[in-house]
Amino acid sequence: MRKNRMFSREVGKSVIGVMAVAALAWGSQALAMEPLPAQPPVPADNPLSAAKIELGKMLYFDPRLSIDGTVSCNSCHNVMTNGTDNRPVSVGVKGQKGGRSAPTVFNAAFLSAQFWDGRAATLEDQAKGPILNPIEMGMPSEAAVLDRLNNIPGYVAKFAEVFGGDKALTYDNLAKAIAAYERTLITPNSPFDRYKRGDENAMSEQAKRGMKLVEEVGCTACHNGPNFAGPALPTGQGFFQKFPTNQNSGYVKKYDLMGDTGLHSVTGKDEDKFMWRVPTWRNVALTAPYFHNGSVKTLEEAVRVMADTQLNKSLSKKEVADIVAFLNALTGEIPAQTLPVLPQPVNMSVVGDQ
Ligand code: HEC
Ligand code: HEC
Repeated sequence: MRKNRMFSREVGKSVIGVMAVAALAWGSQALAMEPLPAQPPVPADNPLSAAKIELGKMLYFDPRLSIDGTVSCNSCHNVMTNGTDNRPVSVGVKGQKGGRSAPTVFNAAFLSAQFWDGRAATLEDQAKGPILNPIEMGMPSEAAVLDRLNNIPGYVAKFAEVFGGDKALTYDNLAKAIAAYERTLITPNSPFDRYKRGDENAMSEQAKRGMKLVEEVGCTACHNGPNFAGPALPTGQGFFQKFPTNQNSGYVKKYDLMGDTGLHSVTGKDEDKFMWRVPTWRNVALTAPYFHNGSVKTLEEAVRVMADTQLNKSLSKKEVADIVAFLNALTGEIPAQTLPVLPQPVNMSVVGDQ
């Protein structure tokens, strides 16, 4: 998974010198706020093709990948509502609730590691998890998933068309197709992007003040790069930071910010306690509620919480409003989706009595 998290720890431990350390570590270039690139990175072993993207979209929308046929990827990451469900925590099969809030899938293709705790290196690795997760989609095994798909002739044909050969329908290829579709879920042309490309009027004066403030206050020491989720690092090497850094903040108790230990819950290592992969700011105005436990309802409050927990600063009302105006200028164009027609099994249902 991640081989080198030195930089992130260095930054995380020093609150005051956060900008200076960050600047030293990556140079001023990496700290720059950048427009969203036209294309996300694509791994060499999973090139994009129109047919693969179409197959991935079918699988993404298909509730038959869940044990009782009720939950698809789109249930929790609804591409009609900004790639998330806007719930504090998501609801999976049989009404079960998980412990974390669903992040948006939009622009996830730009993240250098997936999940709040960065435990999956790639979109391909990530896509294999929820289908088998007992509280998300609840399938008992990869074999059970493949068994269902093998009973749907349209899928058998589509996998053969996309991946070739008679061993085309595999769990790895399912993940590859879903990841390919996710690489199309990007949101270009936010007011910020247009401003950065030279349209001076694309952002309001208030948003421009907010843009300056996030640098002056120190937010962009962590939220930088094209996705405002940290510098572009090699795939799998997530950009981790400690949260909360100021553990004496009154918000910690109020919003139960230390009930989950983040990366430590995966590795068990002491030094990973409360380390989280920095989340994106893109479309953050539309993805409330906020934080890994979905405990904060408004963006204004999320900004106040961040300033206090990460930078030990309390912002004035006007400063919060200016920063929120800037964050709103990061809402991009959501790509319109057409619903796929899912292949059907012939004369039978693949979802049994559950
Ligand atoms: C029951 C709700 C649910 C379902 C179904 C679900 N997810 Fe998620 N997803 C979540 C939650 C909650 C997280 C965050 C979990 C964590 O970080 O520990 C997440 C995280 C992710 C991420 C990481 C994004 C980031 O910012 O790190 C991606 C990508 C993703 N899911 C894609 C998918 C795909 C693809 C499917 C279908 C194969 C899927 N999800 C099914 C709830 C769901
Ligand atoms: C030391 C690094 C660091 C600094 C500085 C920082 N953040 Fe964050 N930010 C994070 C991390 C890590 C998280 C994820 C916290 C979690 O686990 O929920 C986060 C989460 C957020 C979220 C919630 C995102 C979501 O999808 O729920 C917002 C909004 C945000 N930060 C804004 C800001 C603002 C505004 C500032 C400056 C006032 C700031 N951050 C400063 C590291 C940082």
